[in-house]
Amino acid sequence: MATADIDPFARFKEVQREAWAVFGPVEASTTVPAAKLVKFAEVAPGQRVLDVACGTGVVAVTAGRRGAKASGLDLSPVLVERARHNATLAEVDIDFVEGDAEALPYPDASFDVVLSQFGHIFAPRPALVVKEMLRVLKPGGRIAFSTWPPEHFTGRMFAFVARNMPPPPAGVDPPAPPPLWGDPNIIRERLGKAVKDLTFERDTLIMPNLSLHHFRLAQEKTIGPLTKLVASLESDPRKLAQIRAEFDALANDVYKDNAIHMHFLMTRATKS
Ligand SMILES: C[S@@+](CC[C@H](N)C(=O)[O-])C[C@H]1O[C@@H](n2cnc3c(N)ncnc32)[C@H](O)[C@@H]1O
Repeated sequence: MATADIDPFARFKEVQREAWAVFGPVEASTTVPAAKLVKFAEVAPGQRVLDVACGTGVVAVTAGRRGAKASGLDLSPVLVERARHNATLAEVDIDFVEGDAEALPYPDASFDVVLSQFGHIFAPRPALVVKEMLRVLKPGGRIAFSTWPPEHFTGRMFAFVARNMPPPPAGVDPPAPPPLWGDPNIIRERLGKAVKDLTFERDTLIMPNLSLHHFRLAQEKTIGPLTKLVASLESDPRKLAQIRAEFDALANDVYKDNAIHMHFLMTRATKS
């Protein structure tokens, strides 16, 4: 293989693949926003739909239940397996594969709609993931995704996790920060002239939790990058306590009436 073909983020993706394996239980919270994204994207029966970084397949299964011919792809084999189980239970026929959003295993112009819910944002190179998502989309097809605004809880939480992780090895650029995908100006710049009719809509994901500590414990067990951060501090209890206090302070701002309220942004556009 030529040097140029070697993915400089191969090691980063290996870590992500393993880290996100614990995400399964969070599908209970991403199921409702999945319906919102599928509706926002105006998915219609018979359309070919791709769910990028599908996790347990909540978006693809929702599109499939609406009559679309859905496919889903995720880095984590554990989550892909769970997505297949979800499709079987929902009695929809969906093609789920393990793969990388930066190297989609589909021919050009394969899909009428390409979706991603809180997923493609974790690909380390935004320009590459945009190129891939638009490559597999038919001209005139729709791209739509849900992301976390950087100024709200989840965006701030992922920025806080990144800030506290060890730096990448020398010579490797850091991955692009996922919360930048929640800024409409950056989205406009990243999609550029390749799309038209760019539309945004904000909504709120409500996650019931009996206390802030219930929430933090659940997040530490299921949000891969946070799980990794906590594990990396096992031998540094003072720093771990400091991290947990910082997390609680962030979450406290959005905890009301026994629930965490997470703002998210939906984006929709048509391929030019
Ligand atoms: C927050 S979860 C969202 C999962 C799902 N879309 C949902 O809404 O429930 C992020 C997902 O991105 C996946 N992921 C991260 N980097 C990826 C990459 N480079 N290619 C494909 N999937 C990736 C993870 O494995 C994980 O399933």
